[in-house]
Amino acid sequence: MDIAFEGQTVVVTGVARGIGRAIARGFAERGAHVQALDILADGLAECARDVAAARGGSVTTHQVDLGDAPAVTATIRNIEAKARAGAIDVLVHAAGGIRGRTKAPIENVSDEDWRTIMDANVTAAFHLARAVAPAMKAAGKGRFVAISSQAGLGVSLTGIQAYGTAKAAEIGFVKQLAAELGASGITVNSVAPGFMPTSPDYVKQWEGYSAERQKQIVESIALRRIGKPEDIAHAVMFLASDYAGFITGQTLLVRGGP
Ligand SMILES: NC(=O)c1ccc[n+]([C@@H]2O[C@H](COP(=O)([O-])OP(=O)(O)OC[C@H]3O[C@@H](n4cnc5c(N)ncnc54)[C@H](O)[C@@H]3O)[C@@H](O)[C@H]2O)c1
Repeated sequence: MDIAFEGQTVVVTGVARGIGRAIARGFAERGAHVQALDILADGLAECARDVAAARGGSVTTHQVDLGDAPAVTATIRNIEAKARAGAIDVLVHAAGGIRGRTKAPIENVSDEDWRTIMDANVTAAFHLARAVAPAMKAAGKGRFVAISSQAGLGVSLTGIQAYGTAKAAEIGFVKQLAAELGASGITVNSVAPGFMPTSPDYVKQWEGYSAERQKQIVESIALRRIGKPEDIAHAVMFLASDYAGFITGQTLLVRGGP
C-alpha cells in the first residue's frame, strides 16, 4: 500500500515540535505541499530547516495564534489562493496540549488557564474547520484529522480539568462535523494518542514520575513501549489517504494497546 500526497495542499498545525512536526515531515516526504502553522516563531524556523520534502513536496510556514479567529481565516484564505482548485485537501489539527499549565485544584484554576487550553485545542479546531469548509464543500472532497487524546476518552493523566474537557470536546466536534460534512465528500476523524514525552510540558510530566511509576506506565501498555510521534503520523496519514475514504466521525486510539 503506497500512501502518497503528491500535489495536495496539507495544512498541519502545531509543527513547532513533537507530534505536529512528525506529521508535517510524513506528508512532506510523501509529496504534499505542507502548510505548517504554529504560534512559535523559533519552532517554525526549525521546522522549515528540519523537514525535508521529497516527491515534489514543499514546506511553507505561517505564524498564527489559532485562538485568533480572523488571523486563522486570513491564513487559510492565503493558503487556498495558492492551492490546486482553490481548496485545501487535508487539514490536520495537532496544535493544542496543556500550554505550560500544571495540575491545580479546581478552585485555583483561573479563567485564563482554562481559556488558553480550550482555545489551543477545541476553539482552534472550530476556527480551522469553519475556515476550510466552504472551499472543501465546493471541491466536493476534503479530509480533517484532529489530534485528540486518550484523555478525551477517559481521565487525563495530567489532572488538568481543561485539558480532559477540551479533548473530549474535540472528539464530540469530530462526530458532529462528520455528520454534517459527509454529504459533501469530506471526512472528519481524530487520532487519540496515549502519553508520550514529546514536548517540554510532557517531558516535565514524565520526569516528575518516579522510576517505579514510569515502569508501571510502560507495563500497562500492551506493546510495552511508549509511543513515538511517527506512530501518530502514520495513523493520521492513513486517515487522510484514499484508503480511509469510508471512515468518518471516528476516533482511532493509538497507544500500543486497547
Ligand atoms: N504528548 C502527549 O503525551 C500527547 C498525548 C495525547 C495527545 N497529545 C496531543 O497531541 C498534540 C501535539 O502534542 P505534542 O506532544 O506534540 O506537543 P505540545 O502539546 O506541546 O505541542 C502543541 C503545539 O501546538 C502549538 N500551539 C499551542 N497553542 C497554539 C495556538 N494557540 N496557536 C498556534 N499554535 C499553538 C504549540 O506551540 C506546540 O508547537 C496536542 O494536541 C496534544 O494535546 C499529546
